[in-house]
Amino acid sequence: MKILLENIKELVQVLEEPLLFRAGVEMSTVKTIRNAFLIIRDELIDEFGRMDELKDKYMDDDLLIEIDCSNRLVYPSYADSHTHLVYPGPRENEFVGRIKGLSYEEIARNGGGILNSAKRLHEASEDDLYNSAMARIFEVIKTGTGAVEIKSGYGLNTEDELKMLRVIRKIKETSPICIRSTFLGAHAIPEKYRGNASKYVDVVINEMIPQVAADELADFIDVFCDKGFFSPEDTGRILMAGMKYGLRPKIHANELGFTGGVQVGVKYNALSVDHLEFMGEEEIELLKNTDTMPTVLPGAAFFLNLPLSPVRKMIDSGLPIVLASDYNPGSAPSGNMNFISSLGCIKYNMLPEEVINATTLNAAHAMGLSYCLGSISRGKIANLFITSDVDGIASLPYHFGSNLIETVIISGEIQSF
Ligand code: NIG
Ligand code: FE
Repeated sequence: MKILLENIKELVQVLEEPLLFRAGVEMSTVKTIRNAFLIIRDELIDEFGRMDELKDKYMDDDLLIEIDCSNRLVYPSYADSHTHLVYPGPRENEFVGRIKGLSYEEIARNGGGILNSAKRLHEASEDDLYNSAMARIFEVIKTGTGAVEIKSGYGLNTEDELKMLRVIRKIKETSPICIRSTFLGAHAIPEKYRGNASKYVDVVINEMIPQVAADELADFIDVFCDKGFFSPEDTGRILMAGMKYGLRPKIHANELGFTGGVQVGVKYNALSVDHLEFMGEEEIELLKNTDTMPTVLPGAAFFLNLPLSPVRKMIDSGLPIVLASDYNPGSAPSGNMNFISSLGCIKYNMLPEEVINATTLNAAHAMGLSYCLGSISRGKIANLFITSDVDGIASLPYHFGSNLIETVIISGEIQSF
């Protein structure tokens, strides 16, 4: 089947030649075509160009659905390269606790936080976890997301980590969008290993990783390398064990302090280092000319009132940036990438073009998918969205809190909500 989008006011993030990601000054480059058409054949982007180049040959075969996109922009879907969207339920009591003055770390120390979610996950059935996560998947599809990475990490024992990863696998098999799975057994130190983190690290290495690998349950491996969680030494041990099974690292780093997370991420050639609220000259220098994507999670910084990552400085130093939602019940209970885009512009002083690169092409690369997603390119998967009647590319981040997305197409299929 074919779909023709015609009279597109502006076709955004067009890429004619293969490109994995944009960095530094290049991040402010986004190619667009005004008054454009785009043809989708089956699940792929087939052709696009200016309306005056639309030839009859595109009109005469297959079934053709025509969509008039007058006054509307067409974007490639967002890729969300960092989420924890399989979880047993919200943690609103902690939210209120923080309003009353408790910190995220204090809540975690008192058995709340990740440990609280782990306790509830243990009691939840795989079906319930799957159903609630799928509801979140459809919620984010509505707001323009076309690929999602999902982490385990609310199991914290072998049985429950595997259970979480099986739920992610079922989402992968059944959701219309592309899913990547990350094993995050080292998300927090369980109560019974408190003061003895390295014993738990042994369990992660000797018990969990071999089973995760044997059942092919993960694409990546993650560690929460931070103050009060896992040290760079433990992180290195875990990453090395995962890499033996072909699991590339994507790690949580430098959210709560200058904790050596970036250093260990670069050392083990992580695909991304994520959070990065604490970034000095040393960390920025280290990331230059590496294959590691610096990933910033504006929703978590917003929700927890964390210091802001020095994104301007990082881009001006030549680094690429990815923006992701971190969708999770403790630090970012939203997967709305439109809001993330607004935060990118408003709080991090990014240009709309930089935000587009950070949430599409670069984000797809941070989940190993920029060869097939993240831009309007011939042969890529037709995951895209059509806006409502808007002025231009600044409109989406400008109208923070609104959903200006009118139509979503995933793998060449128009989604109805
Ligand atoms: O990315 N920082 C560590 N992990 C998550 C939070 C998970 C939770 O609080 O449940 C994050 O912010
Ligand atoms: Fe996270």
